[in-house]
Amino acid sequence: MENELMRVLKTRRSIRRFKDQPIEADKLATVLDAVRWSPSWANTQCWEIIVVTDMAQKEKLQATLAPKNPATKAMVGAPAVLVVCGKEHAAGWYDGKQATRFPDWLMFDLGIASQSIGLAAHSLGLGTVIVGLFDQAGADAVVGLPAGYQVVAMIPIGYPDNDPSAPKRREVSDFSHQNTF
Ligand SMILES: Cc1cc2nc3c(=O)[nH]c(=O)nc-3n(C[C@H](O)[C@H](O)[C@H](O)COP(=O)(O)O)c2cc1C
Repeated sequence: MENELMRVLKTRRSIRRFKDQPIEADKLATVLDAVRWSPSWANTQCWEIIVVTDMAQKEKLQATLAPKNPATKAMVGAPAVLVVCGKEHAAGWYDGKQATRFPDWLMFDLGIASQSIGLAAHSLGLGTVIVGLFDQAGADAVVGLPAGYQVVAMIPIGYPDNDPSAPKRREVSDFSHQNTF
């Protein structure tokens, strides 16, 4: 079935080229509001989002990517980079103990928040790309994260300067299973 949400979900693309055009404050606020309403482990909301607009800061963050990363230029070409950080030992933890086999559910919750960012942005005509391949510890230092927090991803955001075609997807029949694997 097709509806507005499915249209937004399917037409969102990773955008790595941006127009030299600022993001309206109300649009940025809406994107951050989409994070606020994301689901999270026991509603722990372990996310912290740093909005980087300062060029010198963007250049320092860019330097944490390998030059061959396809998103390297986007780190300075976008008017803003959202640095997606998380508090450790909150998601997936109860009474100071790890609750499941996973050491932390921070990656999961920040993944959901990142999808919220991408979809909300796209619905407003903005483009994003999730950047995961970089030196996270280096980025921690650039944004001045306190101990107990980690940078997980960075998301350049702005008005798209191109309209890439969709990379091929696996068919639903290829990954969906009935009752057992
Ligand atoms: C966790 C994660 C990390 C990613 N890291 C990078 C990255 O470091 N550099 C980059 O150019 N794209 C990165 N991407 C974007 C993917 O390459 C992209 O989502 C995928 O090719 C599908 O394309 P689409 O987003 O246009 O549908 C990342 C995506 C995710 C979800």
